[in-house]
Amino acid sequence: MDLQQAQRTIINLLAQVSPATLPRVIHWMRNSSEIEDLIRSNADVLLNCIADDLRSSLPVEAMVGSENQVKEIIQSLQRPTLHVDAFLYDDDTIDTLCEEGKMSRNYCTSCGSRQTAPIDFISHSFSVAELKFLFQQMLPDLSGKTLVDVGSRLGAVLYAGFVYSSASKLQGVEINAEFCHLQERIIKKYDFSDRIQVFNSDICSQSSLLNHADVVVLNNVFEYFLDKEGQIRAWVFIMENIKKTGSLIVTVPSLEESLHKLQMNIQIDKWVEKVTLSPDIDLGSETDEESIREIHVYRVL
Ligand SMILES: C[S@@+](CC[C@H](N)C(=O)[O-])C[C@H]1O[C@@H](n2cnc3c(N)ncnc32)[C@H](O)[C@@H]1O
Repeated sequence: MDLQQAQRTIINLLAQVSPATLPRVIHWMRNSSEIEDLIRSNADVLLNCIADDLRSSLPVEAMVGSENQVKEIIQSLQRPTLHVDAFLYDDDTIDTLCEEGKMSRNYCTSCGSRQTAPIDFISHSFSVAELKFLFQQMLPDLSGKTLVDVGSRLGAVLYAGFVYSSASKLQGVEINAEFCHLQERIIKKYDFSDRIQVFNSDICSQSSLLNHADVVVLNNVFEYFLDKEGQIRAWVFIMENIKKTGSLIVTVPSLEESLHKLQMNIQIDKWVEKVTLSPDIDLGSETDEESIREIHVYRVL
């Protein structure tokens, strides 16, 4: 059933309710936890469908042909490291792939041999659980607001923002054209185009998007993708252009860590203040506390 058919069916149904009962039915629809649960589980199902779709369009390592330089950077890391995209592969899916021999987790603990090394996992996307936590617990109500995801890659932040938040605009900027085509295909297929837009561009030529954003997401955005000079240039541009007072910046890792690694001597406390998570926030059963602690939120001064 599409939107118009659903609207007609609901109106027809409500027209059959007795006038005395109608206010109570409307009240129930607005406040019902059953409807809230239905909306939430629908959102999860939709994101799983998108992940399925993307998995079938990408190789297991979820990297594209034009990312040779990124693959080289990962291969040159000191410890053996594998890219596993957390939006596409949750722990259960990784277990299945390991059973099928398509992926290995941790050689040391699984076979006991002293000659094998543990594999480090890195992900170029947030997992569904992290995104759910970000939009439902960490960020405020985004009604009427604009979110910009810098380096939107598969579009995970944008799709999750669509289903878990009321943000009016979700804008992704991605330098890699192959990933932009992939995002465009998903946006069209799932009818997201009224709120999601993707720009195939270097963020350093998108000052206006940053100037107007209410929330900017920077998830491990430059480290594996740009050389040191490129990263410094990009961070300087980010700092000069996210300047709307009260706007929020979401980063992984912390701004302090990213800038320190690049030996950038910048006083970020003149630009932003840290937003701390309430200590009694409910992490829920789906959320891995360690990964949530990696997500940092700042407010622009
Ligand atoms: C780690 S991924 C982030 C994925 C996504 N934001 C998420 O959280 O799921 C970083 C992405 O940033 C892109 N990127 C790197 N430098 C960029 C730049 N200067 N402008 C736009 N995108 C960039 C990379 O191509 C990569 O796809």
